[in-house]
Amino acid sequence: MRLLLLAAVLGIALAARVSYDGHKVLRVNPTDDQLALLMQFKNRPGFSFRNEPRRTGANLDIMVSPEQHAAFLSFLKEKNIGFHVLFDNIQTLIEAEDRRQRSMSKVPRAISFDQYYRYDEINSYLEELAAKYPNLVTLESIGKSYEGRDMVVIKISSGGSGTRPAILIDGGIHAREWIAPATALYVIYQLVESNAANSALTDAVDWYILPVLNPDGYEYSHTADRMWRKTVSVTPISGCPGVDGNRNFGFHWNEVGASDYPCYEDYAGEVAFSEIEARNLRDFALANKEQIKLYLTFHSYGGYLLYPWGYTSELPPDWHTLQELAADASLAHVNAGGDPFIIGSSTNALYAAAGGSDDYMKGVAGIELSYTAELTNTYYGFQLPAELINETVTRFFESVRVFGRYVKENF
Ligand code: ARG
Ligand code: ZN
Repeated sequence: MRLLLLAAVLGIALAARVSYDGHKVLRVNPTDDQLALLMQFKNRPGFSFRNEPRRTGANLDIMVSPEQHAAFLSFLKEKNIGFHVLFDNIQTLIEAEDRRQRSMSKVPRAISFDQYYRYDEINSYLEELAAKYPNLVTLESIGKSYEGRDMVVIKISSGGSGTRPAILIDGGIHAREWIAPATALYVIYQLVESNAANSALTDAVDWYILPVLNPDGYEYSHTADRMWRKTVSVTPISGCPGVDGNRNFGFHWNEVGASDYPCYEDYAGEVAFSEIEARNLRDFALANKEQIKLYLTFHSYGGYLLYPWGYTSELPPDWHTLQELAADASLAHVNAGGDPFIIGSSTNALYAAAGGSDDYMKGVAGIELSYTAELTNTYYGFQLPAELINETVTRFFESVRVFGRYVKENF
């Protein structure tokens, strides 16, 4: 009883937590032929492809359970596939994250970018901003998640009564990609709390930011399974909940790079927009589509700036504009001390996958400038240590600045 109480106080569900003890992460640099061989492991029990490059020469990080490890190593040797071990035991990273989280003072203090916040903490911060900056900030719940959590969009507008061009940003459609909500939060922090320094970004452009697009999954990744990616809705297979939110949007839905099988990580859902979270974002974007000129969705990891399409290798007619703007954003990231982003269409630079929010925003909502940012390229992947949040978000804010300036100058 006392232990349970302690667990509740610490905000961790000790008993229910999935352990990744002994799970290794191997990094391979496969040739095209080797990649084809490796793909057979993609959805096998005991394997998780943390990223999956189609681009020759790109890293592929594969998490392997202790049960599968020996056989997989023999396979790699037999096929002559070179690899190195990124993490010998991924559970040690998870536990290090927990320790840091617990050591963080729970005494209310100013927001900082050296820790990951929970859903409630993020929303409390947004409420604080709305109270403190009523002339700049309004909050809107665009609907509730599957488990009933509000999906809160913060609107940052210094005037213009909704006539100004706007930028829509979201983060956290994939639960385990914690740096995504953190980055969205940092953009909010800069635009609102450092408005004097950043007034050029808000004097002619409105910002709509949804830091946690998949709040149920996000919480689940904190309390139950650090590697959770999907939503948490019930599926036709009991024991396999959740849909990949970024395969669920209704534009060339489920045509490629998605799965019909509920137990897989890239399950597209039974129908397009089966997920309430995807519907809520869709409805918000459609209601404001005249105003929204640019869409940015935050993911991790890999260090990519991707534009449509994810459903086809064909390029949109304005791909040149998309490419050049991304190149400017990447340059700003480099000037801030970051690495250059790999830039291209989702299909060509990463892999084909239909049903993404980025494709929908461009293809259906008519938001021509639509990007997925795969934040951070460190080998930590999803478990980017909290100590590295600050440099990651401050550098990327310089890219956001470029997007903001472009919208201001071109619409
Ligand atoms: N890693 C992201 C995902 O798998 C990339 C999405 C890129 N966009 C796309 N429409 N495929 O969801
Ligand atoms: Zn993602």
